[in-house]
Amino acid sequence: MTDPSLSTEPISISALAPGRTRVGIIGAGPAGLLLAQLLHRAGVDAVVLEARDRTYVEHRQRAGLLEQNTVDVLRAAGAGARLDREGLIHDGVELRFDRRSHRVDFPSLADGRRVTIYAQTEIVKDLIALRLEEGQPLLFEAVAQEIVGIDTDQPVIRYFHAGAEHTLDCDFVVACDGFHGIGRQSLPEHALTTYSREYPFAWLGILAEVPPSCEELIYARHERGFALHSMRSEHVSRLYLQVAPDDEVENWPDDRIWDELELRFAVEGDWKLERGPITEKSITPMRSFVAEPMRHGRLFLAGDAAHIVPPTGAKGLNLAAADVTLLARALDDWYSRTDATGLDRYSDRALRRVWRAQHFSNWMTTMLHPDPRDDAFTARLYLSQLDYVATSSAAAATLAENYTGLPLE
Ligand code: APR
Ligand code: PHB
Repeated sequence: MTDPSLSTEPISISALAPGRTRVGIIGAGPAGLLLAQLLHRAGVDAVVLEARDRTYVEHRQRAGLLEQNTVDVLRAAGAGARLDREGLIHDGVELRFDRRSHRVDFPSLADGRRVTIYAQTEIVKDLIALRLEEGQPLLFEAVAQEIVGIDTDQPVIRYFHAGAEHTLDCDFVVACDGFHGIGRQSLPEHALTTYSREYPFAWLGILAEVPPSCEELIYARHERGFALHSMRSEHVSRLYLQVAPDDEVENWPDDRIWDELELRFAVEGDWKLERGPITEKSITPMRSFVAEPMRHGRLFLAGDAAHIVPPTGAKGLNLAAADVTLLARALDDWYSRTDATGLDRYSDRALRRVWRAQHFSNWMTTMLHPDPRDDAFTARLYLSQLDYVATSSAAAATLAENYTGLPLE
């Protein structure tokens, strides 16, 4: 089990800044890296520009729950070996409320589908290692500053790398540069519509060196707030607590976190939350966001650059993978057959899936988090909804089908 981040490969394959490529990709998160790899497999050249350094990108803690579609596309990209060895396959989740547990079984409710636990950090490490091994251009500390000419056949990325300004001439530019990137802002203002929702809570997430206290993930609704028990491996647990959006990590010493988790996960019968050393703590805001369309001229948006979901449905990474799967196929069709259908349909097809995931993520979030703005009546409605999902196979199938991921069109 080698950790690719320990490889001695050079950090970027070229000290020289490339000046021309077919597809210029901004951002080496999962969206940009996976797109580059799928294009490489299809024989389409691309250059990836990443603002941060390799260590930073490889160690940024994010989610780690993969739909079957995402596992399939990572395998197709040649990045499935370690995932297949180390990924944990899960056939269900547990819902906890009113001190009782209910299991939702995926394969029986969702046409045999299941999910895999494999951290986003590991996917990013695998994809970076693969790209560098294959000698494909990936530049760290290369900051895209401007995208020009998106209405022409030759858009250009102006970027800063190794102390100098450079230009990258492209056939297409794909902005995989996350929520704060320049890609979305490069669409003309009149061409872009955005939709968003802020939630009046955030998640405090921890990594702990302790074997998970459960075999499957536990999503708990408690009057003190939501809690989630997830994991990274048989030895490392990942847990989350709903906190106020303006709360700070400094307010949460380790004992307070474990005490609060214990209260929120409390259940009738035998169950114990194991404690261990906490190695990472962070607070993430909860937001829903969509930018439409996801294409303008020769500029395409993918992943967090175009949409953000609250993490309750575990859809962020999976949506990013679905976007670039569609886009890689569309670009392949263009280069192999001059067929522009996929490129022309990309935005509509991606957005259809994005809105399904937005609805599901909002549904899970509102059902599982007590909202300080809600009156007692509304809180009762959400408890009734949770009870329905826990006890009706028709309602549970809605959760199972969306959680495991609808098949890609
Ligand atoms: N130039 C170059 N790189 C940039 C620039 C820029 N101007 N701006 C941003 N970037 C880089 C960031 O440093 C980051 O590494 O773009 C990358 C975007 O990566 P992510 O934020 O991981 O976004 P994405 O690849 O779309 O992944 C989506 O990440 O946030 C989670 O829930 C989300 O799991 C989902 C996944
Ligand atoms: C995680 O393991 O980090 C995780 C799992 C499921 C979620 C969110 C995060 O819904």
